[in-house]
Amino acid sequence: MNPYVSKGLWWLVAVSSVLIALVSYRYFVPAIPVPSNLAANLMARPWLVVHAGLAATALITGPWQFIPRLRARRPRVHRILGRVYVFCCLVGGGAGLLLASGTSAGPIARAGFGLLAIVWIGINANAFRLALAGRYAEHREWMIRSFVLTFGAVTLRIYLPAAQAMGIEFMTAYRAISWLAWVPNLLLAELYLRWPAGRRPATAAA
Ligand code: HEM
Repeated sequence: MNPYVSKGLWWLVAVSSVLIALVSYRYFVPAIPVPSNLAANLMARPWLVVHAGLAATALITGPWQFIPRLRARRPRVHRILGRVYVFCCLVGGGAGLLLASGTSAGPIARAGFGLLAIVWIGINANAFRLALAGRYAEHREWMIRSFVLTFGAVTLRIYLPAAQAMGIEFMTAYRAISWLAWVPNLLLAELYLRWPAGRRPATAAA
């Protein structure tokens, strides 16, 4: 891939991640009301704030971990940010699993978000284990899988207004998007990782 394209792609991912994360911190402001479908979540108290805070922090810390120069020049920063990221994914994922169990959107969304939480926790635990074992090439691959799932928070918030603009009923769209926000992301990451190594498109992440 052209280096300008890959850098542009990284900036797009980083800026959209930071923006969505900042918007998500609004749950810490008591004056801002929680939307009715989320207030109806049986686990909303206290898990919505825990989840939104931690998952948003994962989204904000993730992109920088893929900058090769930062990793090479400041390995300590990479390790500290990496620990923060993994902690946020594991505990934020646990809270996400509880929220999935309490969603007011029914069994399809419960299964979509619930499976996402389980896969997110599993992938992050494995990525962290590989880093501790010094298996850095595999660690990098599993962190790509991890971040495409984290980035699902951004894709979800692109698809929802897009579905509404297409006139799709909110709850129908929400149920479908509980799967569509992350399964295609993971499939794309798999396709990238399974591409013959020599011919793999060089992204900023690489
Ligand atoms: C990747 C694993 C994730 C899982 C399994 C997950 C799960 C959930 C669930 C089940 C809900 C409640 C939905 C409902 O009641 O219908 C929720 C809401 C929310 N999640 Fe996540 N989530 C994940 C990632 C993220 C990330 C990375 C962010 C970062 C911004 C995030 C931010 C939020 C916010 C802000 C809400 C409140 C709803 C909204 O304002 O749109 N989540 N999440």
